[in-house]
Amino acid sequence: MEIRIEGLKKYYHSEGKTIKALDGVDLTIPANRIFTLLGPSGCGKTTLLRCIVGLETPDEGEIRIGDTTVLSTQKNIYVPTENRGLGMVFQTYAIWPHMNVFNNVAYPLQNRKLPGKEIRKRVEKTLKFVQLEGLEQRPASRLSGGQQQRVALARALVAEPEVILFDEPLSNLDAKLREETRKELRTFLSGLEITAVYVTHDRIEALALSDTIGVMRAGSIIEIGTPKKIYFDADHQFVADFIGRANLIRSTVISQDTEATVVDSGIGRIICHKRDFPQGGEVILCIRPEFINLDTQQRNVISGILETMIFVGDAYEGEIRVGEELLMVKLAPNTQLEEGAQVDFSISPEHCLLVSL
Ligand SMILES: Nc1ncnc2c1ncn2[C@@H]1O[C@H](COP(=O)(O)OP(=O)(O)OP(=O)(O)O)[C@@H](O)[C@H]1O
Ligand SMILES: [Mg+2]
Repeated sequence: MEIRIEGLKKYYHSEGKTIKALDGVDLTIPANRIFTLLGPSGCGKTTLLRCIVGLETPDEGEIRIGDTTVLSTQKNIYVPTENRGLGMVFQTYAIWPHMNVFNNVAYPLQNRKLPGKEIRKRVEKTLKFVQLEGLEQRPASRLSGGQQQRVALARALVAEPEVILFDEPLSNLDAKLREETRKELRTFLSGLEITAVYVTHDRIEALALSDTIGVMRAGSIIEIGTPKKIYFDADHQFVADFIGRANLIRSTVISQDTEATVVDSGIGRIICHKRDFPQGGEVILCIRPEFINLDTQQRNVISGILETMIFVGDAYEGEIRVGEELLMVKLAPNTQLEEGAQVDFSISPEHCLLVSL
């Protein structure tokens, strides 16, 4: 089911100050896809999710889930959480510590009075998915934090709701389990007719899991796009910087033709990916470390000094000095260069992205 949000505002009042947690959010979340809200801590992600769920009352705005208006401040409509037909998994997972794993997960189905056999089948399938089979009889209080989080996940999924909302559901898992669960969650959700809204401040998680990412800052959505669009072709400096490591270089637009935009920058004259900016305008040139090639085969050829090389296992993270600029580079782990070496490198224009200041 599609979710439509219009003009959503939520203000908190605390210690004599007004905090604009949501400052006019307009957003359409497509049906049956994974949509991620990504943004730094405090930007309003949880508040937006809580408004969709109905745990928070907005000051202004409208929310529709499918054909149903679940909230409208103008029309005075408020549908309570339990009637919105949603599944949810929160940052702080709320499971019943005194109940065992099976009963925690079975609860939503028992509530609906499904036959016992059907309940057992569904609970078993879901517990297998979250890798908790064999722990059915264990009281939830005697599980690790990560296992408790997976119980919460299983409980939200077991009823196979049409819309499911996640608020940083993997944050208590260790790195390896987090990566595995992320992959399985994507496979699992893709196989269902379900609209998933996922909140995270982890950019890798957002890139790996989502069909669409909405980037939030200070109570507003500032850009929406596919993971590739957001990573390679962001419109805003904030987005380009937030989604991955990037060299950001202040530049001036020199000329523009049908294929490229040319700028003058601290690393010289650079032919860039075409973007319409006025001649003489100030822009930011954004280059990701992995697109700096230690060869001279691309159109932008530059010389510099390799100042640092740090081995991080699957790569070297290096820094090349060009005049006043220090460029982050990602080099193959078998690179033979030493710190202090003079290097010639090149960057393809398609990986020289211009964003507004
Ligand atoms: N109950 C509350 N009372 C007062 N201020 C609040 C309340 N809840 C949230 N806020 C404030 O509203 C803003 C948005 O908070 P929110 O929890 O939505 O952020 P978030 O993006 O989920 O952050 P995080 O990634 O840290 O979870 C923050 O400035 C926060 O301090
Ligand atoms: Mg939050």
